[in-house]
Amino acid sequence: MASPDKNDDQPVLMPHAYDGIQEFDQRLPNWWLFTLFGSIVFAALYWGYYQHSGVAVDDRTALDADLSALEAKQLAAVKNLDDDTLWKMSRNAQTVADGQAVYASLCITCHGPTLAGMKGLGFRLDDAAWVHGNTPTSIFRNISEGIVFDGKPTGMAPQKALGTAKLAAVTAFLLSKQEPGKLQAISRADEPSQK
Ligand code: HEC
Repeated sequence: MASPDKNDDQPVLMPHAYDGIQEFDQRLPNWWLFTLFGSIVFAALYWGYYQHSGVAVDDRTALDADLSALEAKQLAAVKNLDDDTLWKMSRNAQTVADGQAVYASLCITCHGPTLAGMKGLGFRLDDAAWVHGNTPTSIFRNISEGIVFDGKPTGMAPQKALGTAKLAAVTAFLLSKQEPGKLQAISRADEPSQK
C-alpha cells in the first residue's frame, strides 16, 4: 500500500484501502458545500415559516377562502332573493363574516353580543323561535323594513339604507345559527328574552 502522499498541490491519498480501492482526501468544492449547508438552512426556515409561524397560509385554506369569496359574489348577484338563496348564503363563510361585521356595528346594542337579546331592547336571535315570521325572507324583510306592531313602530327601525348586499349578509349571519326546516313561529307574548 502506498504511503500517504504529502504535497500541497496534490490531494492527500488516505491510508486505507477497501478491496484494493484507495481514496483521495479531496476538499469538497465551495459551491458543493454552499449547496449542502444552504439547503439545510433553507429547510429549517421553510419548516419554521410554514409549520410554526402562524403567518403562512396553506394552499387548502387559501383555496377555500378564494372559492368562498367567489361563491359569495355569485350569491350576491342573484336577483331573486328567496329562502333558498338566503340559506345558501348562510353556509358561505365570506357572506357570514360580512354579516357578522354588520351585526357587530349595528345590531349588537339591542340584540346583545351573543344574540341572546335584551329585555326591553331587542329580541333573542340565536334560538329557533321567531315572532315576526319564521322564514329567511321574512327575517330579511323585518330587518329591511323594520317592525310595526299594533300600528306602532317598535324599537326595530327599518335598516333599508344598508342596501341589499349588507341586509342579505346580516340575514345570512343570523341563519348561520339555524337549521333549515327548524324555524318555529311563536307569539310575541312568548318571546323568551322579554320575560
Ligand atoms: C334600537 C334597538 C334595535 C336595533 C339597533 C336592532 N334591533 Fe332588531 N329588534 C329590536 C326590537 C325591539 C325587536 C322586537 C320588535 C317587537 O317589539 O316586536 C327586534 C326584532 C328583530 C327581529 C325579529 C325577531 C323575531 O323574533 O321575529 C330581527 C330579525 C331583528 N330584530 C334583527 C335585527 C338586526 C339584524 C339588526 C341590525 C341590523 C337589528 N335587529 C337592530 C330592536 C333593535
